Amino acid sequence: MSVDAQMQYLVERCQLGENEKKARGLLVQLLQEVFVEFFPDSHILPFGSSVNTFGIHSCDLDLFLDLENTKVFQARAKSTTEQAGEGMSDDGRSEDSILSDIDLSTASPAEVLELVATILRRCVPSVHKVHVVSNARLPVVKFHHRELNLQGDITLNNRLAVRNTRFLQLCSGVEDRLRPLVYTIRYWAKQKQLAGNPSGAGPLLNNYALTLLIIFFLQNCDPPVLPTVDRLKDMACEEEECVLEGWDCTFPSQSIAVPPSKNTQDLCTLLAGFFSFYAKFDFASSVISVREGRALPITDFLSQNKEEAMQEEQPTKTHHQGPKLGPLNLLDPFELSHNVAGNLNERSHRTFQRECQEADKYCRSLQYQRKSTKGKSWGLVRLLTPHGEVPHAKAEQMIISIPFKSASLPEVLRNQLHRAGDGFRLLWFQKVCSAVEGVFQSVLRCHLTPSSDAVFGIDTAVDAAEEMETASSSFNTSMNDSCDSVESRSETSPLGTAVLGGKRPLSSGSDASASPQGKKPRLAKRGKPEVPHWICVQKHMVWAGRRKVRRELIKDTDSRPEGSCMELESQVTDHIIKIEPELKDPLEFKVQPQMVGETESTKAVLKFEPTSDKTGVFHDFFHFLEVFLPKMVETLIEREVGST
Ligand code: UTP
Repeated sequence: MSVDAQMQYLVERCQLGENEKKARGLLVQLLQEVFVEFFPDSHILPFGSSVNTFGIHSCDLDLFLDLENTKVFQARAKSTTEQAGEGMSDDGRSEDSILSDIDLSTASPAEVLELVATILRRCVPSVHKVHVVSNARLPVVKFHHRELNLQGDITLNNRLAVRNTRFLQLCSGVEDRLRPLVYTIRYWAKQKQLAGNPSGAGPLLNNYALTLLIIFFLQNCDPPVLPTVDRLKDMACEEEECVLEGWDCTFPSQSIAVPPSKNTQDLCTLLAGFFSFYAKFDFASSVISVREGRALPITDFLSQNKEEAMQEEQPTKTHHQGPKLGPLNLLDPFELSHNVAGNLNERSHRTFQRECQEADKYCRSLQYQRKSTKGKSWGLVRLLTPHGEVPHAKAEQMIISIPFKSASLPEVLRNQLHRAGDGFRLLWFQKVCSAVEGVFQSVLRCHLTPSSDAVFGIDTAVDAAEEMETASSSFNTSMNDSCDSVESRSETSPLGTAVLGGKRPLSSGSDASASPQGKKPRLAKRGKPEVPHWICVQKHMVWAGRRKVRRELIKDTDSRPEGSCMELESQVTDHIIKIEPELKDPLEFKVQPQMVGETESTKAVLKFEPTSDKTGVFHDFFHFLEVFLPKMVETLIEREVGST
């Protein structure tokens, strides 16, 4: 209905659910129990997106392992042992405890983390892929939790991160408009490939930096939406004073202590304001200070004198170095010597500002607030369109994307993909096509007819690349090279039959676009290659009242989320078909799968086009599919892999 409603909807769709939060909490509890066995008096504390109120479904679990008390314990035990003779520590623990292998007061973080990694590997069920990254700014142990499908990071000496997470929580508590803004801008930045470095390190903004940019903008609205960190400090009481590693981290613990903002702008205006603010921002001569809520002149940071003066002003500080300056300078609100955007290069900074300018221009158009009658997409739809894709509001060009997320795939499939070498994208794409077919046919009871001669394999991908005008630049043209390696797998996997219609196995030979006879494939009328697709016929509104039927069927005895069980979802469909009358005119639509993107950003894109919709139900069905289909595809892939 409005941009504000779209932003709220985005939060609902993306935010961590209660069960997800609970599961994460239980894992933290389990880790705490395990670590305390090996590191007496240690604490494990979550920080970052899992707990900062901006978490999304797939976000990682950042943890800080606090060993300060363990160090004290170890030092005490050591002196007692020396006094009492060798063999036993003060609490009777034998010397062969893991702590006897390491002196926490002198060991490097990497050494301690190796020990942490060993404990994770040996003692925590379902944890795998454990490895230490010791060359990061903060060394980290990375792991994956199989059952929760969760990426975890454990760091040491990261008390400041726990505190700045608390600060973000406070800001969310103080200002309701912050969460919708952060979710929307994070989503926008992800779609435009401006933020989120897939492997941790990289030249893009991290989500923390992006959130601080939003907070800084809100501090600079007129009247301000959020107070500066210095103002927050003044609002804190004595007991809330907090200095960490020499940095003043004082702010109120309760949002009630912060007076509400006098700014009454709606979300739509604030979002447009964010883009406009950074479209014009003079990054070259400024250092952004969330602490002071203003841009500091960069020249202040170029002179040594200023650093010395700063030290005098804040004698408690133990850090003397200035921030690492770069094209975008954004100071951490507490650790004032840290530029949280110090990893950005010229190019990523320029792209960020250019995208802000583009977005600013769009937000000034009538379309943004749906005031144009041109029938084009409006509001967030256009704003959040992935980089390189053109949004289409017309029903004929509706799209559902299924991204390739290796971490959430079953291990068996990951191994298959690994063996497929360069052809892994194609193998994955075929699994997706097979699952999509399964969802329509077996779960939603659609009648499906493949387009003549359709095989959802290399030909599709190649045709797709030709079809996608704007996405073609990112399409991995090395598909032809990958053909051999995939084909060699096709004997041991059911690929040939899994693809649509099961008519033909994968193309053979190294020329992916050639037919087995060596001819060019399927030239449709006027010489244009026909892109394979399904024609689907749906006679019932299997999406209407689905949740209710589902609830009735499971009678609260089953807490499986929607889309996670094929049998149950099929039963729900059958039940609806039994109780609901048939549509007067069956809905007929075309689904055309395409594979786009490079290794990191591979995705299956399903184009929907109603071919007969006399009862006007296609839009509703499509909106239902947007949520249901990706989840169900994931379930079917798991099921198919599990059964082979
Ligand atoms: P992220 O950038 O990963 O943010 O930093 P996030 O909110 O957790 O987002 P995703 O979903 O994981 O990408 C994680 C936390 O690390 C600390 C902050 O506490 C942040 O919330 N951090 C990060 C810093 O303290 N300084 C930095 O420069 C970066």
